[in-house]
Amino acid sequence: MSIQQAYNSWAPQYDTNKNRTRDLEAVALRTTLASINFETCLEVGCGTGKNTEWLVRKAMHVTAVDLSEEMLERARKKVSSNKAEFVQADITQVWSFATQPYDLVSFSLVLEHISDLDHTFKQVAAVLNHGGHVYIGELHPFKQYTGTKARFDTEEGRQEVECYTHHVSDFVQAAKRYGLSLVDLNEYFDENDRTTIPRILTMLLQKV
Ligand SMILES: C[S@@+](CC[C@H](N)C(=O)[O-])C[C@H]1O[C@@H](n2cnc3c(N)ncnc32)[C@H](O)[C@@H]1O
Repeated sequence: MSIQQAYNSWAPQYDTNKNRTRDLEAVALRTTLASINFETCLEVGCGTGKNTEWLVRKAMHVTAVDLSEEMLERARKKVSSNKAEFVQADITQVWSFATQPYDLVSFSLVLEHISDLDHTFKQVAAVLNHGGHVYIGELHPFKQYTGTKARFDTEEGRQEVECYTHHVSDFVQAAKRYGLSLVDLNEYFDENDRTTIPRILTMLLQKV
């Protein structure tokens, strides 16, 4: 099953399944961006709009992009603000959906599905204003090392979505190649228990 087919199939249950990664990343994004100001935001892999809801309250405009029409349909229903524009697109292709310079580009739980970080960061650097930020919130690679993957259950059995492991240094070095500096890095743990493997890795980058 392709990544697009997998999310089209996951969409009806994405918001209601027990999913600690989804929920903890929502906390991580809000914590990381609470003190960051932005007027224009490009949300990459917006899914069902879990974070779009929050981003439109801070921004004047959010372009929210996703590969899956079924995920987007739910996002459109959830976020009625005319500050949000939803676009179906594949971010591994040319970024023709980025129609203006952005103060913030955000990625939540999407880069694990993207093999080529260089293509992604090159596009980010091109659409980001100077001084603008990039937020990345991902399933922590430490979790990936233990076998955790994006997965959901269907009547036909458990479906695993195609994933790639990016090490922490892969993110930081790819960002550096395109003029994006690391300004913050954090880790979020289940029940805030720092004796366990962290679930979510966040990075805040800035175009210098
Ligand atoms: C785990 S979901 C995360 C959704 C949302 N950001 C969240 O945190 O709940 C990953 C999303 O990335 C999208 N995605 C995966 N590959 C993509 C691609 N190449 N281009 C655009 N979106 C993609 C999927 O369709 C899916 O909605």
